[in-house]
Amino acid sequence: MKPRKVLSTSLVVGSVLLGGPAVADTPSASMLANTCAGCHGTGGVSHGPATPTIAGISEEYFEEVMEAYKTGDRRSTIMGRIAKGYTKEEIKLLAGYFSKKSFVPAKGQKADPKLAKKGAKLHDKYCEKCHADGGTSTEDDAGILAGQWKPYLKYTLSDFLAGKSEMPKKMKKKLMKLHKKKGDAGIEALLNFYASKK
Ligand code: HEC
Ligand code: HEC
Repeated sequence: MKPRKVLSTSLVVGSVLLGGPAVADTPSASMLANTCAGCHGTGGVSHGPATPTIAGISEEYFEEVMEAYKTGDRRSTIMGRIAKGYTKEEIKLLAGYFSKKSFVPAKGQKADPKLAKKGAKLHDKYCEKCHADGGTSTEDDAGILAGQWKPYLKYTLSDFLAGKSEMPKKMKKKLMKLHKKKGDAGIEALLNFYASKK
């Protein structure tokens, strides 16, 4: 019993020093967000092509994808481990924080104009219904595709196609149909279309 008593005393002292338990228990959104900046950039605008920009994505999609990382429904290299470290409340705070930032299209991405034109048509036919305004809208709670980093979108789509990540049933139908008809070239055309959005 003795060590336990020592421990709880030091915890009390600790929280008094931090200004009381209320403050220690609820870190501010910007404090939480600082942890993400190393990879996602300051304010969520990423400079690394394998890491998506998270500034401006809707709160609902943000919370959904963090939950999907936790459960493994969305495959990840790193985010599964990171997401598990945050409570629902903390994720809500983070979602609110990043959704209020402005999305900035990835800088210096190359896009083949011919492929982008093909991709625009494919997008209208297969994806526009849920990823509105050419993939720029956040109102659909489906993430932002236009101007997102191409390498990130490429591996995200290939995980969807390979069944390593879950996606909405209706999206699955459309994406599989597109892939069956147009193959990897169709996906490449879409990626060029999204990369052409500046
Ligand atoms: C070590 C680098 C790293 C850190 C730190 C990190 N992320 Fe990520 N994040 C990634 C990568 C890489 C991906 C793509 C999925 C994967 O492979 O893990 C990603 C994906 C995401 C996505 C999905 C975006 C989309 O368009 O679907 C969200 C949301 C996200 N991260 C939020 C956060 C938040 C919030 C934090 C801080 C609490 C954070 N990340 C910290 C590297 C990181
Ligand atoms: C029926 C609606 C619907 C259709 C059609 C649809 N999607 Fe989606 N898409 C969603 C929703 C909802 C999400 C977010 C939830 C999830 O990831 O499960 C999403 C997520 C995504 C993501 C992940 C975004 C990110 O930031 O990580 C990509 C990439 C994507 N869709 C591409 C496409 C492409 C390409 C098409 C057309 C071939 C398409 N979607 C058609 C609804 C749809």
